[in-house]
Amino acid sequence: DNSLKNRIFDINKLSSEYYHKNLFTNKTALEYLSKRKINSKIAKEFHIGFANDSWDGLVNFLKNHGIAEEDIVRAGLASRKKNGNGYVDRFRNRIIFPIYDIKSRVIGFGGRVLDDSLPKYLNSPDTLVFSKGNHLYGLNNYLKSSNQERIILVEGYMDVISLYRSGITCAVASLGTALTINQVKLLKQYSSNIYVCYDSDEAGQRATLKAIDILTRSGVEPKVIILPNGNDPDDFIKENGIEEFEKIIEKALSYIEFKVYLMERKYDITKESQKIDFLREMAKILSGIKSSVAREIYLQKYSDKYNVSKEAILAEMGINNKREL
Ligand code: UTP
Ligand code: MN
Ligand code: MN
Ligand code: MN
Ligand code: MN
Repeated sequence: DNSLKNRIFDINKLSSEYYHKNLFTNKTALEYLSKRKINSKIAKEFHIGFANDSWDGLVNFLKNHGIAEEDIVRAGLASRKKNGNGYVDRFRNRIIFPIYDIKSRVIGFGGRVLDDSLPKYLNSPDTLVFSKGNHLYGLNNYLKSSNQERIILVEGYMDVISLYRSGITCAVASLGTALTINQVKLLKQYSSNIYVCYDSDEAGQRATLKAIDILTRSGVEPKVIILPNGNDPDDFIKENGIEEFEKIIEKALSYIEFKVYLMERKYDITKESQKIDFLREMAKILSGIKSSVAREIYLQKYSDKYNVSKEAILAEMGINNKREL
């Protein structure tokens, strides 16, 4: 079948081999990976590659393999020069992470700079076979290992790879910070035991709240793993080791506990007026719980914790419910 779709899959495969072989000839790229604790075994498993600092290395390679320039553009790997003469590679001087679908076909790429220049990551544009919000990085590897009891949802390529290297093969990345409904549909096919472990910076926390929202609306009640000091999973494991990470998995919060935890941090509850404002916000969170036993459990917990009666919290929740009618 010589459809455009299949031609793009072929071009992607060929290109991933090109980048991957190229990695092992480039000292700077290998040094970068070793700095990030990626050895050649892991580089091979994830088929990590390198795009040279060249304008047309890939284009020439593909042309020599009989690929039409227009198809290279359709695969998102090159663009036409502004003056109209010839084509330039999309990825230049970047570490390359091939992105696979659940059938382990290469559908696109992410490319990271070796220094602090921007954008830090450049991804394939949307093509006939790739749309960022429809896939999860690492899902193909997850499917290869059996007996998975959970999925850990992380932000980035490096987080998936770091966890995998440490023996945790159930991590998948939403490729950026906004989880989409299509990614949730994909996740749900494989597990409903989802742990969100986004970066613990502002953006990551905001993204976690959004992810909770989209997951719960699809009937998945996620847990949330909280990392310290703005860490992401890769940073955390580098600093503390995998045993510590396993401990914080066990300390994961329910999504309700996470929302209350984040809310509490906005207030100084040693001051009465702020404690009141916080408790009212907390009541709003609790009134979103559908299960009455779950609601009872949280009522008990927070009534004890904040030293305020269950009745008062319930009444506050009732007020919220009436407001919504
Ligand atoms: P982060 O900014 O958290 O990067 O973005 P990171 O993965 O921790 O990067 P390292 O550790 O410095 O290498 C998380 C993910 O968001 C997407 C990438 O998929 C990245 O892995 N992203 C980020 C982009 O697509 N473009 C960007 O410019 C930045
Ligand atoms: Mn290969
Ligand atoms: Mn981030
Ligand atoms: Mn990160
Ligand atoms: Mn990182």
